[in-house]
Amino acid sequence: MNKGYSLGAKDSEQKRLLLQREIYGDTEDIHFPPDYRVAEFGCGAGANLWIAQEVSLGGYIGLDIQSAQVDKAKQAAQKLGLTNAEFKLCNAEQSGLDDSSVDAAFARLVLIHLPTPKTMLQEMIRIVRPGGRVIIHEPYDATYYTGPDKFNLMKCFRARNVLAYDNGRGSPEIAVNLFPLLSSLQVSKVEVSPYVINANGTKDREKCKHLLENLVGLITPVSDQLITQGKITPEEWRSAQKEACVITPHTFHTQTLWRALAQVN
Ligand SMILES: C[S@@+](CC[C@H](N)C(=O)[O-])C[C@H]1O[C@@H](n2cnc3c(N)ncnc32)[C@H](O)[C@@H]1O
Repeated sequence: MNKGYSLGAKDSEQKRLLLQREIYGDTEDIHFPPDYRVAEFGCGAGANLWIAQEVSLGGYIGLDIQSAQVDKAKQAAQKLGLTNAEFKLCNAEQSGLDDSSVDAAFARLVLIHLPTPKTMLQEMIRIVRPGGRVIIHEPYDATYYTGPDKFNLMKCFRARNVLAYDNGRGSPEIAVNLFPLLSSLQVSKVEVSPYVINANGTKDREKCKHLLENLVGLITPVSDQLITQGKITPEEWRSAQKEACVITPHTFHTQTLWRALAQVN
């Protein structure tokens, strides 16, 4: 059974997810017509409820496998006063939604957590009407880079990635596999483009600080396990946290997400 999400659904993690989209700004140029009905796969704590705000005449359905995430997303929708958002607690690989029942399916930072992401992609394609869209965002963590003054932070992050995704727990390579994977399914007009999140410490200190805090937030839930397993030392983790707080002229922080758009035939 899919356990959902390696970083869990603690309050701190949900808060991080909600903040992350604001910091990344990676969906700001994506738009849906107001009469669209959109399903979000792995909606999490509701970071992408901007979709429901756009599809005012259509509707939004958020699917997630973890009840704590669905509860949080419902609260977020209520806070925003949304009346067109509904949620379903389910393994979205078997969503239970009808064939061709939505205009678009959207997933952000979800497939990387799945050992066989093709299953969810097929489900997304199944429920989208012909001519509708499938939209995916996935990170490629090898492109998550901080400058040379963040050596310990990057060491801890890489160890965390192995813990979270390797040995069949997830799909660390999904971002670069989106094009071949989608091309092998019944879709056309597959477009994959990089979205680069870039902050130079000397030029955009505030964004750089937020991105570094976000990186620490990714490691924190599993840092004890990494230490117990001998993947990092307590000293390396302490140094990593300090490194994240100090922005120097050398600090450079960049991450690339891959974004795929495909049309269902
Ligand atoms: C990193 S979070 C991303 C949340 C949200 N998409 C965002 O952009 O903030 C991954 C989410 O996918 C959910 N998830 C993982 N596997 C799932 C599955 N098989 N079905 C539904 N949700 C799943 C997790 O519970 C978690 O909420």
